Amino acid sequence: MLPHHEELLAGLGELIAIPSVSADPAHADDVRRAADWVVARIAAAGGSARIEERGGRPLVVGEVSAPVADAPTVLVYAHLDVQPPDPLDLWETDPWTLVERDGKLVARGVADDKAHLFMLLEATRLLAAAGELGVNVRFAIDAEEEVGGHSVVDWVEDDEDPADVALVLDGSYATETLPSICTALRGICYFHLTARTGERDLHSGMFGGAALNANHALLETLAAVLPGPNGLLPEPLRAGIIPPTAEEVAGWSVLPTGGEELAAQGARPADATAADEFLLRTAAEPSVSVNGMEGGSPHLQKTVIPVEAHANVSIRLAPGQTTAEIVPVFERMLREAAPEGTSLDVVLRSSGEPAYVDPEAPAVRIGLDAFEHVLGTRPLLTRSGGSIPVVAALGARGIPSVVTGFSRPTSGMHSPNENIPAGALDDGLATTIELLRRFADLG
Ligand code: BES
Ligand code: MN
Ligand code: MN
Repeated sequence: MLPHHEELLAGLGELIAIPSVSADPAHADDVRRAADWVVARIAAAGGSARIEERGGRPLVVGEVSAPVADAPTVLVYAHLDVQPPDPLDLWETDPWTLVERDGKLVARGVADDKAHLFMLLEATRLLAAAGELGVNVRFAIDAEEEVGGHSVVDWVEDDEDPADVALVLDGSYATETLPSICTALRGICYFHLTARTGERDLHSGMFGGAALNANHALLETLAAVLPGPNGLLPEPLRAGIIPPTAEEVAGWSVLPTGGEELAAQGARPADATAADEFLLRTAAEPSVSVNGMEGGSPHLQKTVIPVEAHANVSIRLAPGQTTAEIVPVFERMLREAAPEGTSLDVVLRSSGEPAYVDPEAPAVRIGLDAFEHVLGTRPLLTRSGGSIPVVAALGARGIPSVVTGFSRPTSGMHSPNENIPAGALDDGLATTIELLRRFADLG
């Protein structure tokens, strides 16, 4: 049933060649072209699809129906948008040309999330063509996952005919060789801050020490939400977290140590206990990241007291927390810390809820069995530090999600030279086919 590797490459290469960068308005047409491409592929698989316009970006919704009555419905999720490719000079090949090199497929979006999207389309097409589709496959293909868009979350909330199970192909293996099914994901609240401290920049000799400096004000403001000496966030930002069970923690013992994980990425531990607590910190604790800052004259030598400074700052929420509870607390802590005289503007740019999936859910058990059957390895149940907002929305509708994928820790998601092992495309397709076959048992 499986097509030749070259045939798969040609199909995936078409999607990769469309630079669907959701964060960049200059690529809005490309995001739409990618959506049109997906619609055409769902039609080619024997289904129908349409683009729902929700908040400016396209959401592709479609279905390929099973030829049998009363088949269960599987909602399949992936996203067609990708992160910006910069810095371009670190790419060894063109980001928008799929190449196979040293046993890897390399291109922007190949790991996150276009190969997964392609596997869902191909698996459905092949099963339908063979007359072996035992489930209704409903597609919800997101075009704004990478910018924390709400379109698919809103669609799931409004859906009048909820699916029986969801297959979310947007994750990764736990190690290079060990697949995983992810049963918890962090949420995120992403803010832009502007601090203003006067009418115009001033001579730092004439006024330094007396006039309020916007950079200093912003630093003091941000310091209030950063971790303390033990590496954990201030208590008000930790409210509600569900700690991992002893069983979960025991399962993690097969994973590389935190020190190894950090070293493999050329990263340095954030504090003395960060390496030892790596999994706890990234998957079961909230974390705050100042994602970018700008103010005054960071490059040209200029003796100035700046009056305006900006920062992007985000908090990842641990499972158990909610954006509704954390957003006002985070904002209040910032405002209380801003020095007298600072006008602080706080804009929430995007948010997504953390998610928790019952590892005992029949869908998860079917997922574990399908992987083991095809690849000979039973996946590890993991928690992910990253965010996929749709999973919480599905959970709220009572739809269990199998969150998995075939990317690797070394795939360089969001980084230059993003890649997957060449064989992951074929393995992933075979496993996706098996997952769709076995979900028929949920009927
Ligand atoms: N696919 C990732 C999330 C992910 C990574 C899950 C690794 C499991 C393992 C997703 O595309 C992503 O990057 N999400 C963003 C969401 C944000 C922009 C709202 C993230 O986590 O930064
Ligand atoms: Mn993704
Ligand atoms: Mn991503």
